[in-house]
Amino acid sequence: MNEMLPEPETYFQGLLPRRGALLKRLEAEAHAEDIPIVGPVVGELLYLLARFGRPRRVLELGTATGYSAVYLAQACRETGGELVTLEYDPALARRAQANLKEAGLEAVAQITQAEALGWLAKTTARYDLVFMDIEKEDYVKALPHCRRILSTNGLLVADNVGFRDADAFNRAIAADPGWRPVSLYALLPGHSPLYDGLCLAVKRA
Ligand SMILES: C[S@@+](CC[C@H](N)C(=O)[O-])C[C@H]1O[C@@H](n2cnc3c(N)ncnc32)[C@H](O)[C@@H]1O
Repeated sequence: MNEMLPEPETYFQGLLPRRGALLKRLEAEAHAEDIPIVGPVVGELLYLLARFGRPRRVLELGTATGYSAVYLAQACRETGGELVTLEYDPALARRAQANLKEAGLEAVAQITQAEALGWLAKTTARYDLVFMDIEKEDYVKALPHCRRILSTNGLLVADNVGFRDADAFNRAIAADPGWRPVSLYALLPGHSPLYDGLCLAVKRA
């Protein structure tokens, strides 16, 4: 019988890995201040992708208080990689800096206060993994830059692709033979109310 578990959200919430005090505080702050962080499921997924893929250089677009950056930087610390994360709001960038320091991750994570599209247009650095989590209507504008800076077979992860504003991005990446994407229509704890989706795409040669 392939019966589904009743109330899968509550069920899997109960099985989430334990988080330390810092991540719990960031979750509480995000809840109180309405800061849209990825939450523990996508956080774990980011850690797992970065840990498994062993990217030397990871780029995050949209830091907020550094919650997802902690997961990515934890993987980088274990693999010898490094994380650059971009946030245009100076107060949030400062908070993220302090949080990454508190996590003991300041040596692997560089928080850069910059507008992502302008920064992307200028950078010549190469990355093996890009996590995109800025304004969703900007995803389609960031896409060609991501393709340019990613190494061949590098991984692009885009959050919230179920949002209407990500429509142009979704269509563009699906139509471009330069990417091999899969979009997950997420039914995940912390995400299911928004049904917001996640796109994973490998850059093809
Ligand atoms: C969804 S939040 C990021 C959450 C974070 N990735 C996490 O899960 O902990 C998006 C953040 O990106 C920032 N942002 C939005 N558009 C941006 C842009 N074009 N350049 C830089 N930062 C941007 C916002 O200020 C906000 O803090």
